[in-house]
Amino acid sequence: MSLPHGYRQAEMHTSHQRIETAHALINGHFHCLIACLLSTCDYIEPDNQAVPKSITQALWTGCTNTPIHSHTFTLMSPTTSRWQTSEVANAFLEGVRSAIPGADLQLAVMGKIIEQWCPSPHTLVDLGCGDGILGRYLLNRFPTAQGIFADFSEPMLAAVRQKVSDIPQATVVTADFGQPDWGASVATHGPIDVVVSGFAIHHQPDDRKQAIYAEIYDLLAPGGIFLNLEHVASATAAGEALFDDFFVDHLHAHHVKADPHVKRDAIAQKYYNRPDKVENILAPVESQCQWLRAIGYRDVDCFFKTFELALLGGRK
Ligand SMILES: C[S@@+](CC[C@H](N)C(=O)[O-])C[C@H]1O[C@@H](n2cnc3c(N)ncnc32)[C@H](O)[C@@H]1O
Repeated sequence: MSLPHGYRQAEMHTSHQRIETAHALINGHFHCLIACLLSTCDYIEPDNQAVPKSITQALWTGCTNTPIHSHTFTLMSPTTSRWQTSEVANAFLEGVRSAIPGADLQLAVMGKIIEQWCPSPHTLVDLGCGDGILGRYLLNRFPTAQGIFADFSEPMLAAVRQKVSDIPQATVVTADFGQPDWGASVATHGPIDVVVSGFAIHHQPDDRKQAIYAEIYDLLAPGGIFLNLEHVASATAAGEALFDDFFVDHLHAHHVKADPHVKRDAIAQKYYNRPDKVENILAPVESQCQWLRAIGYRDVDCFFKTFELALLGGRK
């Protein structure tokens, strides 16, 4: 079961606009804001079923189908995200994370790179940590390291605090990498040897992704490593359809263990209509490797890729 490609394009377009619109307002570029607003509002006619109203309403409150000039628009904070709700956080932790295809191999590849390039890391950061699956794996493999677990979602922070409660070398910090000052909470722990991130940075627009990669570079000690296990863009719509179908297979196989009667179609429906999907801003892995090289990272590569799941990174 797959959605028409046009739907996904329209949705992605709208999601980009939402963020660009927020940036326009924050930067005071009101002419750009109006342009974004005019085009964004094209998508929220109530009888237009192609793109859900909620996408634009997530940004604007008070936006209805009356003329634009009569509205008072209120911009929600750029840090407002579905990931900060218990609903999305728990749905991911309980229903999706264990279904990610190739998860064990992704961790093993990440561990191998660190073992080869920085065998005794002093400090490692798990950025956008969720319940800390990456950082906990690494602290188990490199037990003399200090681990910093960073996220901006209270439900995720509660989950990771509980999971690392018996790991003395773990510290949990609140950090929003959508904001340029996020590194302050991490920098107090000294130069960082390793930064890992799992399926998190793709929630930022591309210019912010590049800025985050540069901010991470600045935090790293010489020789430090950055590894991003990421949801990346397929090269074509056909590749995207392959990935979606593959992912639904894995979700179904996971959920059927708890409920043998659960139907693949029901899982597919949920997957294609998941509320956090509008926050995905996927970029091709090749572009992202180029960004890393341009910043100054060495030995940049995509070390692992299965459809839209990729491990990319490099060292300082
Ligand atoms: C798909 S989950 C992945 C969690 C974990 N890294 C993993 O691999 O299971 C995405 C995580 O990124 C976090 N996140 C999203 N945007 C963020 C931001 N701007 N700052 C900090 N964390 C963010 C979410 O709260 C969530 O925990």
